[in-house]
Amino acid sequence: MSSGLDDVIAAETVLSHVDGAAGRLIVRGFDLDELAGQRSFEAVLALLWDGFVAESMDEQAIRAALGKARVAAYATVGRLIAATDGLSAVESLRLLLAALPDAEPTPHHVLAVAAVPVFAAAIARRKRGLAPVAPDESLGQAEDCLRMMRGQAVPAAHARALEAYLVTVADHGLNASTFAARVIASTRAGLLSAVVGALCALKGPLHGGAPGPVLDMLDAIGTPANIRPWLASALADGARLMGFGHRIYRVRDPRADVLKGVAADLSLGNNRIRFAEEVEAGALELLREHKAGRSLDTNVEFYTALVLEALELPRDSFTNVFATGRVAGWTAHVLEQEQSGRIIRPQSHYTGPMPGQLHAA
Ligand code: ACO
Repeated sequence: MSSGLDDVIAAETVLSHVDGAAGRLIVRGFDLDELAGQRSFEAVLALLWDGFVAESMDEQAIRAALGKARVAAYATVGRLIAATDGLSAVESLRLLLAALPDAEPTPHHVLAVAAVPVFAAAIARRKRGLAPVAPDESLGQAEDCLRMMRGQAVPAAHARALEAYLVTVADHGLNASTFAARVIASTRAGLLSAVVGALCALKGPLHGGAPGPVLDMLDAIGTPANIRPWLASALADGARLMGFGHRIYRVRDPRADVLKGVAADLSLGNNRIRFAEEVEAGALELLREHKAGRSLDTNVEFYTALVLEALELPRDSFTNVFATGRVAGWTAHVLEQEQSGRIIRPQSHYTGPMPGQLHAA
């Protein structure tokens, strides 16, 4: 038995494959670098949903359907945004997603993907005392997400950068949140419930909650001279360095390289990216000493933090922006699970007392 289900194969999927030894991510037959920065988020959704929905939709049809569904989802913002006061950004997203009714006529895979950025943007603005910005259904998902967050038209380079990010994180094998979605889907609870459950799993600091803390770490380190002392002291205290390590990858996470390129383009060689590279180098050196024999390398979250910061997104929205990309994979896995899967019901190994043993002494 393994406490973390390492090496357990819990589903067959045609959606994505994480090759941890080679540092390779394949999504429906394409290497990550054939998709990120090359195809739109809607085109990747078309790939992921292909064969799982009754009428197959191309990129343009998905763009139009998402635009309409963003407008439909915006009604929930008006109704419920005040109820999110006092909650964290990700708790707020959990509340708004949970309010979407199963009876909603928009196909649920479209509604879920459309709703996440609408809610994420309204939540980020509400936390800053700003009114929500209505969706523009004529725009692609990435550009509209950034526009709704920032409250004004965005430069094309920024929309492209967010699109590359959303595609990079769209799907990633049976990660914790996707597995949670598939378990819920296997009970036939419905796609919207599965997406809420997936978000709850994503929220944790060991999964999608890491990028905000990556920036907190860079801020706490502060200066190049403090890199090694700060990191060494954190490791000596038993802390985990955010943005490093991965269950599957035994080499560098390929998504880190894609996002490092995106961050470098956005930051144009400014001090922030140079400092982050120095912190990364210092962390890798110390982690190799810290856990000899266990190759710990940079994961997706380290450069996610740099990309989202350069896009002027608030730190507390990072997990919700991650969900804006990953909801693509969640919906595809739910559709796949509903099509083919039995209820997921593993066994546990009982280590408690048997009847009679409690009083035996
Ligand atoms: N910093 C310090 N030590 C670490 C780190 C880290 N970032 N990552 C792993 N280790 C240590 C573990 O504590 C473990 O030590 P132990 O054997 O003494 O308990 C050892 O290295 C091996 O750990 P793994 O089995 O490789 O790690 P696991 O698969 O359990 O966890 C995880 C993977 C959760 C990603 C872990 O590396 C971590 O906590 N990283 C920091 C948080 C983070 O960046 N999360 C984002 C991951 S990517 C994503 O979810 C999108």
